[in-house]
Amino acid sequence: MNILLIGSGGREHALCWKLAQSPLADKIYVSPGNPGMAEGEAVALDTADHGAVTAFCADKHIGLVVIGPEAPLVNGLGDSLRAADVPVFGPSAKAAQLEGSKGFTKDLCARANIPTAAYMRTDNVGGALAALDDFSIPVVIKADGLAAGKGVIIAESRADAEAAVRDMFDGSFGDAGAQVVIEEFMTGEEASFFAVTDGTTIVPLASAQDHKRVGDGDVGPNTGGMGAYSPAPVLTPALERRVMDEILRPTVDMLRADGMPYSGVLYAGLILTDEGPKLIEYNARFGDPECQVLMMRMRSDLVELMMATAEGRLGEIAAPVFADQSALTVVMAAKGYPGTPEKGGAIGNIESAETDGVKVFHAGTAIKDGRLVANGGRVLNVTAMADSVTATQAAAYTAVDAIDFPTGFARRDIGWREAERERS
Ligand code: AMP
Ligand code: GLY
Repeated sequence: MNILLIGSGGREHALCWKLAQSPLADKIYVSPGNPGMAEGEAVALDTADHGAVTAFCADKHIGLVVIGPEAPLVNGLGDSLRAADVPVFGPSAKAAQLEGSKGFTKDLCARANIPTAAYMRTDNVGGALAALDDFSIPVVIKADGLAAGKGVIIAESRADAEAAVRDMFDGSFGDAGAQVVIEEFMTGEEASFFAVTDGTTIVPLASAQDHKRVGDGDVGPNTGGMGAYSPAPVLTPALERRVMDEILRPTVDMLRADGMPYSGVLYAGLILTDEGPKLIEYNARFGDPECQVLMMRMRSDLVELMMATAEGRLGEIAAPVFADQSALTVVMAAKGYPGTPEKGGAIGNIESAETDGVKVFHAGTAIKDGRLVANGGRVLNVTAMADSVTATQAAAYTAVDAIDFPTGFARRDIGWREAERERS
């Protein structure tokens, strides 16, 4: 079968690499792709032009479209393709509101009795300021819409909370801030859980933990993620069952009852509180870089899983299989990230870093004058797998050190929480 994969990040390189391992995959097209995706043929489609994407699929006999990032999902690319009878891995625009609108998700959680932070949502400054009286400090202020991970402010004082509210309504987050959600601050360790669903059947995949802050020890500004590992043992099998029963199952059932069945991967951002796991937020796509560690561990066929999801047959296939080992990925970013990253820096020696059990996924890379260079914030995802987080960490950093990327940097402590637990 021919496959079209939309996206250009490390997440999509990992998906491309894994899709290509399937005997079901013939030709893989990637749009726009990146230089690491040797398994795919790069094409330049405008994903906002749904007619052009649909026409491409007809022309190339595409049997499956995999949509990596959230923006085309929220913009309804999945709906346009499905209307043209092209199987798609990724939810409809309506179901993708789970990521596209925090208020939508909070309202759904309230109706379905899903454990999450107490909240209120409003579209006006007066309402938001008045509502602050009902919350203790710290309090969380969120822009409703997609804000590239930047629309969340944890206010440590009433004055900061008021300033955040005013900022959001002043348009500092564009349309994303036309509605604001105010939330109770929850305390606990964070973990992510991934599952696929065809709207009815839910199949658990795996847990992961990422490192959002730019600096060692989880300090400094937030990023898209500086590294991740899977599984996250802090999410024990018993807790995973609670997440499935108390969070994912009621979400999928409620969306189906509402006439917007969810098809694709559900990425639940969780916090493990004293009262049990609670939902922080949903994403309607794989995490980046969490996807890289999931794909590293996945032993079963990704094309089969995605096709069964797209065609509503998840109940008919064998459960996906993941290695018991630990996978860990270290992001090598360009200096300046998450501010303005330095572009054009040369990258060398990737091949020598890719020893047994190590895979380097590309993210923001480009070929310039025949040489591989940095072309974005997060540039490479150095991914390893071994029997413990400690061993995986060592393998990943050996590979990081073998790569020649003078204008790049990486955190040196990815996986520290689990490595610390392994030592004790
Ligand atoms: P998000 O951009 O929605 O992933 O949120 C970014 C981060 O903000 C999360 O990973 C949490 O660390 C934190 N966060 C969001 N909502 C809450 C909450 N209600 N309580 C505590 N922390 C939160
Ligand atoms: N790594 C966080 C995300 O993909 O949203």
